[in-house]
Amino acid sequence: MSGMIIAVDGPAASGKGTIARALARHYGLPHLDTGLLYRAVAATVLRDGLDPAVEADAAAACAFNDGLLADPWLRTDDVGKIASVVSAHPQVRAALLERQKRFAGQPGGAVLDGRDIGTVIAPDADAKLFVQATPEVRAERRHLELQKAGLTASLEKVLADIRARDERDSQRADAPMVAAADAALLDTSVLSIEAAVQKAIELVEARRNA
Ligand code: CDP
Ligand code: CDP
Repeated sequence: MSGMIIAVDGPAASGKGTIARALARHYGLPHLDTGLLYRAVAATVLRDGLDPAVEADAAAACAFNDGLLADPWLRTDDVGKIASVVSAHPQVRAALLERQKRFAGQPGGAVLDGRDIGTVIAPDADAKLFVQATPEVRAERRHLELQKAGLTASLEKVLADIRARDERDSQRADAPMVAAADAALLDTSVLSIEAAVQKAIELVEARRNA
């Protein structure tokens, strides 16, 4: 089906990025990792010595240069944590809304992953997935990534950070992280990447044939 819009949401390290990229490849659709936009705002706040808790400071950082999106620094947990602080400000969400809506409105279709794709950005998506995994499994995944990158952080600290981010993302008033009523739930806790991607394709196929 050309023009298919696929929304993939879920908490940190649930596997939504991996699944969204695989779906984009499978269906030949462009992919947008919307978390990267919030990470770019966070990185700009940090670089410019602004206060992420102050809405006007975070809003000023929304005029970031697109070149920043390729900076590996954005992928770090330090930036991810600040991203979840700036993303709670309505002015920040409003500033990034149009760009995401435009991406989701491409006539050829698209895959987007984030927290509010199925609820706010693309409520009419053809298929919506909400990817989950237990906090413990997600912490282990992040811990492993950090170890591979040569960084040291205790598993307890990573788990505490994951729980804090879940809490902030799901409790905010504006576009909180929540599964859309019509989203298919995909728990990857005990699934390999290959099995999770296979299951995701099956769920999308079930939706498009429904
Ligand atoms: O995008 P999100 O933060 O939800 O997660 P991700 O970056 O796709 O996946 C987080 C980590 O978990 C990566 O290192 C993946 O390789 C790994 N992963 C996994 O071990 N098993 C899965 N079923 C999915 C992802
Ligand atoms: O990959 P991971 O799940 O760790 O994080 P991300 O998807 O890059 O998102 C970083 C932060 O941006 C999240 O903790 C959310 O607070 C925020 N975010 C959001 O509010 N809405 C989105 N559509 C995507 C990300």
